[in-house]
Order: sequence, then C-alpha cells, then structure tokens
Amino acid sequence: MSNTVYVLNGPNLNLLGLREPEIYGSTTLDEIAGMLEDRAAELGLEIEMRQTNHEGMLVDWLHEAQAEGARAVLLNAGAYTHTSIALLDAIRAISTPVIEVHLSDPKTRESFRHTSYVGMAAAKTVEGHGADSYRMALESVASDEV
Ligand code: DQA
Repeated sequence: MSNTVYVLNGPNLNLLGLREPEIYGSTTLDEIAGMLEDRAAELGLEIEMRQTNHEGMLVDWLHEAQAEGARAVLLNAGAYTHTSIALLDAIRAISTPVIEVHLSDPKTRESFRHTSYVGMAAAKTVEGHGADSYRMALESVASDEV
C-alpha cells in the first residue's frame, strides 16, 4: 500500500469560491489542494487531487485508486452523491477505504440531498465543516481510523 491519498471531486466543485459562497464558502478547490498538500506532508502522506464533472470518470478513478494501492480515497461526489448507484457499486467493488466528504451538511438541506449512495458504502463521512471537512477526513486516514 502506498502513502498516497486520492482526493476525488465531482461536478461543480471546480467552481468552489465562486459557487454559492454562502453555502460552500469562499475557498477555491486549488486552495483546498494546497492546504491538503501541506497537511499531508506533515502527516507523512501524499495527495492526488482531481476534479471532474463526469460520473464515469469518478468510477474510473476509484478503480485506479485500488489498482495503484492508494492508502485511501476522500470523495466529494457533489450531486452524484445523491443519485449515483454506479458510485455506490464502485466503492463496494474496491477494498481501498473511501471517506465521503462534503463542505456543507446535506442532511440539513433540501430533502433530495438526504439520501447518500456514497455514504451507504463509504467507511466514514465528514460533512458540514466547509473546507475543513477535507482536512479532518485526511487526519482520520493518518490516525488509521479507516
Ligand atoms: C456537496 C453537497 C452536495 O449536495 C452538492 O450537490 C454539492 C456539494 C458539498 O460538498 O457540500 O455539489 O457535495
């Protein structure tokens, strides 16, 4: 197993910082990547940060994380969280631990966000802490909680 943690981001997260900042904050995805790289270095981990607007790409990257022997995956699947049985199946298909991450807390928002297919298969969920959700998820990998 490698020390690499895949950080996979789904649709619309490329617009973080501009997109509904009252919900998601003003930190950009690049800034989150920088913060995670710094924290990962302190924890003896490495980050492989990616973003796509395409569901199947997330499935391919989950398979890749397993094939590459990644330590874990942090997955913010955006709205695919609430719709994608393909992501549920992909998480179940790999043995790499997957932590579900959200900036907001979807369970306190519209009812269509209350179902999480990702959460049905993920080892753990960290949500509702803005950009800090990613850092907390990374720290739980380092402390072997998953
Ligand atoms: C999100 C929550 C989802 O409901 C939403 O569709 C997103 C972002 C979050 O990080 O809070 O795109 O995953």
